[in-house]
Amino acid sequence: MKKFIKIGGKIDSFNKIINVEGDKSLSIRWVIMSSLSKKKSIAYNLLKSEDVISALKCIKALGSKIKFFKNRCEIIGNGLDFSNKKNLTLNAGNSGTLGRLILGLLINSRKEIKLIGDKSLSKRDFSRVTRPLKKFGAKFIGDKNLPLKMKGLSNPKAINYLEKKGSAQCKTAVMLAALKSDGQTIIKAKKSRDHTELLFKYLKIPIQIKKRNKKYDYIKVKGIKKVEPLNYKIPGDISSCAFFIVLTLLSKRSQLLIKNINVNPTRIGIIKILTMMGAKIKFINKKSYKGEKISDILVKSTNNLNGITCPTKYNSSAIDEFLVIFLAAAKSRGVSYFKDLSELNQKESPRLKWASKILNFIGIKNITTKNSIKIFGNPNLSLNKKIDIKNFSKDHRIFMMSVIAALIFGGKWKIYDLDSIKTSFPKFLEILKKIEH
Ligand code: S3P
Repeated sequence: MKKFIKIGGKIDSFNKIINVEGDKSLSIRWVIMSSLSKKKSIAYNLLKSEDVISALKCIKALGSKIKFFKNRCEIIGNGLDFSNKKNLTLNAGNSGTLGRLILGLLINSRKEIKLIGDKSLSKRDFSRVTRPLKKFGAKFIGDKNLPLKMKGLSNPKAINYLEKKGSAQCKTAVMLAALKSDGQTIIKAKKSRDHTELLFKYLKIPIQIKKRNKKYDYIKVKGIKKVEPLNYKIPGDISSCAFFIVLTLLSKRSQLLIKNINVNPTRIGIIKILTMMGAKIKFINKKSYKGEKISDILVKSTNNLNGITCPTKYNSSAIDEFLVIFLAAAKSRGVSYFKDLSELNQKESPRLKWASKILNFIGIKNITTKNSIKIFGNPNLSLNKKIDIKNFSKDHRIFMMSVIAALIFGGKWKIYDLDSIKTSFPKFLEILKKIEH
């Protein structure tokens, strides 16, 4: 789709209260976990984006029943022991999370499943999940990229697994396979978002977690026979509200209150990093919900941001937010440095490369390597040139980052592939309008 948006000037001051849509990680996990219970699961505020719709289509093809109502979605799954009647093709669309998690779920499928995805997903690395799944006993035809074919087995054996990338997708795929295996799977995982662990605990699935050191968690999961249904009110997605946090910070005399956001400590790297740079961001009305932390977020603009040498301990908890963090670095005083970020080039598009391109377009000096970026900030940057953003593999977050850059730095922007926002944040432009008027 060549649909585009034109933006021709900076945003005026604003003072607004908004909600963003449901958390994508939790929405996909709710769909997957619900498909494992034979009883009815209900979700409120499920994100209705293309990634989540792809997840619903996959579990429907695998036998789950799905109903949508005005304010909720219901799933009656088909239990743990699924033995497909026929070979199937499943389409993960643009979603790395779905593609990787569904393979873990399929560990005990005796029929052959073909997994396909869109052009961007077909370029992404799947060996990171096919490798551990082979240890459980799965067989693959094509194990690095989509399309691939997988055949599971009726009695997968528990494994020991070392997850070194800090990938919650890999960790979760292995945890799902472990649920269906004989014995106890032991995972040593570099720290990453822990929604699956919290859901397993809430559902009373036998799981033990030891946070023995700062870098790694030790997770033990035992195979089980039955999963309870999961009723869930999905909180707002910090990865979506990140765009508006940075927009507010870098605008003049503005304030934004964003309601009901999932502020799980494994997801708030952006808040820690921006605070280190001098941002004023507050959590108010904090509460706990089924193991997760939820809060409203209050952010005020500042013209006092300083560059940062970003501690790598925040890389995993800010992985989806770095694009907008780089915009904050571009408008701050001094030089910022972010390293060990090769994973950013493994996303829906090579995001480090794209960040560098966009910073070059707006005239911000940067030195970018395969896994790092050094940004020479300019607090006074103001543009009045033309910038076209296109051919970015329809990466939703590149689109949204460009919109925020246009509103902060000014100039005449034409940003293509507007439909990309449907992947994770279909209401992005609608909410932006509310902020603007
Ligand atoms: C996700 C994990 C992250 C993140 C993705 C969602 C998840 O990917 O980038 O958007 O829901 O588990 P990795 O686990 O590959 O880092």
